[in-house]
Amino acid sequence: MDGNGRWAKQRGQIRVQGHLAGMEALREIVRHSQRLGVKYLTVYAFSTENWKRPADEVAGIFKLLVRYVKSELKELNENNVHVQILGDWDNAAIPEDSKESINLVLKTTEKNDGLVFSIALNYGGRAEIVKAVNEIIKSGVQNVSESDISSHLYTAGMPDPDVIIRTSGENRLSNFLIWQAAYSEIVLTDTYWPDFTPDVYEQCIVEYQGRDRRFGGHK
Ligand code: IPE
Ligand code: MG
Repeated sequence: MDGNGRWAKQRGQIRVQGHLAGMEALREIVRHSQRLGVKYLTVYAFSTENWKRPADEVAGIFKLLVRYVKSELKELNENNVHVQILGDWDNAAIPEDSKESINLVLKTTEKNDGLVFSIALNYGGRAEIVKAVNEIIKSGVQNVSESDISSHLYTAGMPDPDVIIRTSGENRLSNFLIWQAAYSEIVLTDTYWPDFTPDVYEQCIVEYQGRDRRFGGHK
């Protein structure tokens, strides 16, 4: 979900206003994912590198998380959405009220079996792989397999992403699901995240549907 800051700047607003607009865009994308029959929606909300940002922006982002849970939890639950967090969200640096909101949304939706909506928060792909390897070492496994790694990632039990959409004209993964993205299709759009409407989302999916996926083989 990239481009909130530039979206705000374009309008002479502060960055946090861009994050607020981004949160509103997210609400619509979650709803539209359900209409489209998407089974897994994962969003990159806050990376392990985002702590480098000014403290007031970081605080603003976490306040928005609390606000998001307050405004969306009822609807998410009624729609059978299962919310998960990918990342080290129990980390000391995350504000207490945000952790409480996360606990609430996880507990409330844990038995739901509709759309799996994963929020990557304090997430980094390299840190995730290191975490997996350390867990495997602890378990005493001598010969590590790909499936050992996959089953110790935050995404254990989930399919790898079919498509990764990057907004705001940036052409990189930025440490997002780097293990899982091995054969994901990447769709890039210049649209800033707050302007990422269901229409733009559908255009991205149509672009993905036109791709020829061979997974290293051929027809
Ligand atoms: C939102 O967009 C992504 C988050 C880290 C919350 P940015 O804040 O990165 O926006 P730009 O890249 O400065 O436009
Ligand atoms: Mg950015």
